[in-house]
Amino acid sequence: MAGDFVGVMDSGLGGISVLRELVRVLPHEDFRFFGDSAHNPYGEKTDEQVRALTGDIVGRMVDDGAKAVVIACNTATSAAAASLRSQYDLPIIGVEPALKPACEALPGGRILVMATPVTLRLDKFQQLEHEFDHTCDIVPVPCAGLAGRIEQGDLDAPDLHGLLESLVGPYAGAVDGVVLGCTHYPFVRRQIAEVLGDVRFFDGAAGTARQTRRLLAARGELRESGEGEVTLQSSIDTPEELALYRRFFTCEM
Ligand code: DGL
Repeated sequence: MAGDFVGVMDSGLGGISVLRELVRVLPHEDFRFFGDSAHNPYGEKTDEQVRALTGDIVGRMVDDGAKAVVIACNTATSAAAASLRSQYDLPIIGVEPALKPACEALPGGRILVMATPVTLRLDKFQQLEHEFDHTCDIVPVPCAGLAGRIEQGDLDAPDLHGLLESLVGPYAGAVDGVVLGCTHYPFVRRQIAEVLGDVRFFDGAAGTARQTRRLLAARGELRESGEGEVTLQSSIDTPEELALYRRFFTCEM
């Protein structure tokens, strides 16, 4: 039975960057966000583990009556979205590295794609890279450890700055654009810019929100009035963790 909320999931609090855009584009909808922080990071697990964890969460949202589910995680989308779409009869919207808008905006430019090792390894990104690598110099940067570090909060700590230095410092001053191919990374956009200098950033949140709106409208399930509610949940079910989620939901980005 179709319910009347949109489920949004991620491996942790990163998907809140997509949730914020969803709320902006679809202000009348109710959203239930679930972050699987207890199992973060997904981006350094096997494909099978990511598929199983994502499948459990999406299955629960469907059982609870979601009318659509947004997989607000590049890693989980790459590993699980296609098989989940064939399993359920409701819109399942994913997020992918925003390589297309980056290459269209910066033809001939040098573009870093920061993402998890799983996202960069799987077919979805390999195909995307192949589609655009004749238009731009695409440099994939697997960012092991970064999502897990962002999960801890405290985004201006020296150790986080050091991690960013080691991941992207070698490209400082020598890159035109950065694709934030993991939904955690928009929360450290400023910190990345402090390492890289003047670059343009691209992420998949806006495209995902537009696609969610399109699919709900096509099914006649878009709410056009009333104020939507947002519920935040985590698999680390403590007041401290939920306070961190709320902080990420409202902080300046
Ligand atoms: N936020 C997830 C993504 O967009 C990944 C973080 C993780 O490794 O769990 O890829």
